[in-house]
Amino acid sequence: MSTLVVVGAQWGDEGKGKVTDVLAATVDVVVRYQGGPNAGHTLVVRGEKYKLHQVPAGILHGKECVIGNGVVLDPQAFLQELQELRSRGVAVDRIHLSHAAHVIFPYHQWLDELEEERRGANRLGTTGRGIGPAYSDKVARMGIRVADLLRPETLKDKLARNLEQLNHLLEQVYGVEGYSLDELWERYVGYGETLAPYVTDTAQLLNRAIAKGDRVLFEGAQGTMLDLDHGTYPYVTSSYPTAGGACLGSGVGPTHIEAAMGVAKAYTSRVGDGPFPTELKDQVGDYIREKGGEYGTTTGRPRRIGWLDTVVLRHSRLVSGLTSLALNHLDTLTGLHPVKMAVGYRIGGQVWESLPLHMEDLFGAEPIYEELEGWDEMPSSLRSFEDLPLQAQRYVQKVEELSGLPVAMLSIGPGREATLVRFDPFKAYT
Ligand code: IMP
Repeated sequence: MSTLVVVGAQWGDEGKGKVTDVLAATVDVVVRYQGGPNAGHTLVVRGEKYKLHQVPAGILHGKECVIGNGVVLDPQAFLQELQELRSRGVAVDRIHLSHAAHVIFPYHQWLDELEEERRGANRLGTTGRGIGPAYSDKVARMGIRVADLLRPETLKDKLARNLEQLNHLLEQVYGVEGYSLDELWERYVGYGETLAPYVTDTAQLLNRAIAKGDRVLFEGAQGTMLDLDHGTYPYVTSSYPTAGGACLGSGVGPTHIEAAMGVAKAYTSRVGDGPFPTELKDQVGDYIREKGGEYGTTTGRPRRIGWLDTVVLRHSRLVSGLTSLALNHLDTLTGLHPVKMAVGYRIGGQVWESLPLHMEDLFGAEPIYEELEGWDEMPSSLRSFEDLPLQAQRYVQKVEELSGLPVAMLSIGPGREATLVRFDPFKAYT
C-alpha cells in the first residue's frame, strides 16, 4: 500500500498541480476527489503551458487518472478539455470517471450568479461555475449523477422534476423564460454517449489498485481554508478539500491513506471575498502579485496577496493530519527586505495562535509577525537545499519550525528543474 493525499494548505492556488505533476512521474494512479471546474492548474511541461480544470495532472504522464464520486462535473467543459489535450497529442484513454459524480447543468451556473447577486455586499466571490448549486442539489437529493446520463429515460424523469420547480421560479418570480426540457435532455444524452467509455465504478478500481500495491496520489483542489467545514465559513467552496475529503470523494477508506502533504506558497494568496488577516494592500502586495503571476487560472481575476500565515499552516496540519509540506514560490519573495510571516493574531487585546471560534473576528485580526532577513538572488535550478541563499534557507527552516511540518518539496520556479524533492512525501519523515 502506498497512498498520499496532496492538499492545499491555504486558500487554494498553492501550486498543487505542479507538485502532483512532479510526483505523478513516480505513481500509478492520480485521483481528483472534490470540486469541479472551479479548480485550475497551470502546468509548464517541457516549456509548454497546460491549463487543466477537471482532468487530474497525471494525464501528462500517461498515468491512470480517476475523477471520483466527490467531484461535480461539467460535461461540456470536461469534453472540451479532453479535446484540447488530444489535439496536443496527449492520450486521454486512461481517464476513469465515477458513475456517482454529480453533474453540473446550465441552471446551476445561472443560480450561482443569481445567488451572488442576491448576497450583495456579502457576496462570496464564487468562480461562477455552478459549484455551490450543484452540491446543494446533491445534498437536497435532487442531483443528477453521471450514471443517469447513460440512461436517457431516467435522465428525462429527473430533469423534468428539477425543471418543474426551477422553471416555476424563473417564470413566476423572475418573469423570464424557463429551460426547455427536450433541449437540455437531448444535449445531456449526447454528453452521456460521449462520456460512456470513461464511466466506471472508480471506488472498485481504486481499492483494487491499492490492494495490488499501486502508488496512488489523491490530488486535492482548492485549499483547507476553503473547506466547507474547516475553512472560513461561509467564505468557502461547497466541498471538502481537506485530506478527509479524499476518502469521502473516492470511496477509499481512511485506513488506506498513509500520508498527507500540504502545499503552500512562501506567501499567501486568496481569490474571492472573505477574511484574510495577512493581506497586503500596498506595494509589497503588488510586487508579489506581479512577480508571482498571481492571476486566477479559471477566472483571470487578480489574486489578493499577503504574507505567509503560519496559523493557517498549523490549522491545515491539524485538520488534515499532514505529514509534510511542499513550499512553492520561494523565488517570488526575492528582493523583499525584510520578509515576514505571521505567528499569531491579536484580536480585541487577546493573542491567538490558532483560529478564533468566530470567523468574523478574523476580519479585524491584527497579525503578529516574525521578521526575517530577505535575499536578493535565487538560482534558476535547485539540486540541493544548500543551493539556496542562506537567508532563504533560514526562511524555510522557520516555516518548518512554526508549522511543525518538514518541507519535503521546495520550488523556486515554474519548471520541473526548479523543484527540489528533499524526501519522498509518500513516506512519513523520520
Ligand atoms: P466556488 O467554489 O466557485 O463556489 O467559490 C467559492 C470560493 O472558493 C470563492 O472564494 C472562490 O474564489 C474560491 N475558489 C474556488 N475554487 C478555487 C480555486 O481553485 N482556487 C482558489 N480559490 C477558489
